[in-house]
Amino acid sequence: MSQHSSSKQITNQDLLAMKARGEKITSLTAYDASFAHILDHAGIEMVLVGDSLGMVVQGQTSTVPVTVDEMVYHSRLVSRGLKRALLVTDLPFMSYPNPDLAVQNAGILMQQGHAHMVKLEGGQKILDSVHHIVNQGIPVCGHLGLLPQSVNQLGGYRVQGKDEAQASSLINDAISLEQAGASAIVVECIPATLAKKITDSVAIPIIGIGAGVQCDGQVLVSYDMLDITLGKRPKFSKNFIQDAGNISDAVKAYVNAVKQQQFPAAEHSF
Ligand code: KIV
Repeated sequence: MSQHSSSKQITNQDLLAMKARGEKITSLTAYDASFAHILDHAGIEMVLVGDSLGMVVQGQTSTVPVTVDEMVYHSRLVSRGLKRALLVTDLPFMSYPNPDLAVQNAGILMQQGHAHMVKLEGGQKILDSVHHIVNQGIPVCGHLGLLPQSVNQLGGYRVQGKDEAQASSLINDAISLEQAGASAIVVECIPATLAKKITDSVAIPIIGIGAGVQCDGQVLVSYDMLDITLGKRPKFSKNFIQDAGNISDAVKAYVNAVKQQQFPAAEHSF
């Protein structure tokens, strides 16, 4: 039996209403139809076709080599497995260097990848692109904190927003993204106290990964929480299959843990 009571398609407005009534939003990544079906059936509200596929599916050392064509391919596969969840697809590295290209590639992800929303990384530098994409009727999810597409500039995968100046610029970025029309924001690897401030500063949902339990929702790379990890599992993730025994029950355990605010615990936070 399905974990959720309704199979109505979830929209950006539903996510907004969930934040308003304090219901936690659950999200995991998927890269193919079979996994997408399991996530959908377990009650995940937001399925993300992350460019993390470059690392966990393609075995590359970063997300930088991933192309728009590859995102379209995986997004299309995932869309076939979903009935209820909102499908969010990443705009990959260099697919939004200016507003015109951003709109063009966002349109491709919607038309050919059947995405319901596109996600792009960054703050002030991408506001024009966000504004242009939203003006075309395409919902946008921002991504702040650790920006994996900028790993070469950041010099590694590190916790962001630890000092006062960085923290206040991340809060300003979140407010600016909301003003530019974003429907949600992922915040990655930032202190839990900062994530809470960001969550309280905007009306749109803040979805955390390595950002503490007080965000409006949580996202993880599904391969990490299912212990299908090529390297070491990140501190902010948790092995949900160990106790559950199978993929479907592991995803249901994750959904319950997020809804009950039992995940992430202090040991998964910064
Ligand atoms: O690419 C991805 O999977 C992501 C998540 C880490 C949020 O952006």
